[in-house]
Amino acid sequence: MSTVTLRVFRGDAQGGTLQEYSVEAQEGMVVLDAVHQIQATQAPDLACRWNCKAGKCGSCGAEVNGKPKLMCMTRLDELDMSQPITVRPMKTFRVIRDLATDVSWNYKVNERITPFTPAPDTDWRMRQEDVDRVQEFRKCIECFLCQNVCHVLREHDEKEGFVGPRFLVRVAGLEMHPLDTADRLPLLKEAWGIGYCNITKCCTEVCPEEIRITDNAIIPLKERVVDEYYDPVLAFFRRLFGA
Ligand code: SF4
Ligand code: F3S
Ligand code: FES
Repeated sequence: MSTVTLRVFRGDAQGGTLQEYSVEAQEGMVVLDAVHQIQATQAPDLACRWNCKAGKCGSCGAEVNGKPKLMCMTRLDELDMSQPITVRPMKTFRVIRDLATDVSWNYKVNERITPFTPAPDTDWRMRQEDVDRVQEFRKCIECFLCQNVCHVLREHDEKEGFVGPRFLVRVAGLEMHPLDTADRLPLLKEAWGIGYCNITKCCTEVCPEEIRITDNAIIPLKERVVDEYYDPVLAFFRRLFGA
């Protein structure tokens, strides 16, 4: 057992400071355990959101030593325990209190996504390859770490013009479903702002479900938009036939 120092953000949307706490680290402990120990022994009013402690509910996202992480899946012994470990709330979203942020903007974005629109009366039979293609996208636990780290949402205040990587993952899962009939390309190009993504891949790096957000979701969607709106051959025929 050793003593570890955590510097935890205490405050709200108006501001706050990092407060230092000492924690008795035990083998296998994760950052969320340390936060719970602080709540139990030193700061019962420290606010943080969590639920499953198994990396599946997506609630416990925070910035640990400046990196977006699930606190319940980040072991203390992965970090340099000889130095203070900083724990801050996700920067992209408004702080409610301490480590709890207001992620409700994401749920409003979710309502804007055209839902699954299956073809009526089809006799299509799903094959394993159809399932495999979209299965990766269904693994999302809505932790919003990708939304937090994407510079378009984080620094440029483009929140209304860009839905962010989490929702491009959802759109990819719908667009690549063989039974879906909705046309989401006009919305992807305009209201959902896929053009803002410049493929930095930061979202992919932080995804705890290891979804290849950029390569498997965003780039194929960008290609569909380009094919539809910017293909010079198609544009030529459209001009020729007035389509
Ligand atoms: Fe979290 Fe990955 Fe889903 Fe983004 S895509 S919300 S990082 S699980
Ligand atoms: Fe943002 Fe991911 Fe694109 S981090 S810029 S959505 S590649
Ligand atoms: Fe559920 Fe961390 S508590 S993902």
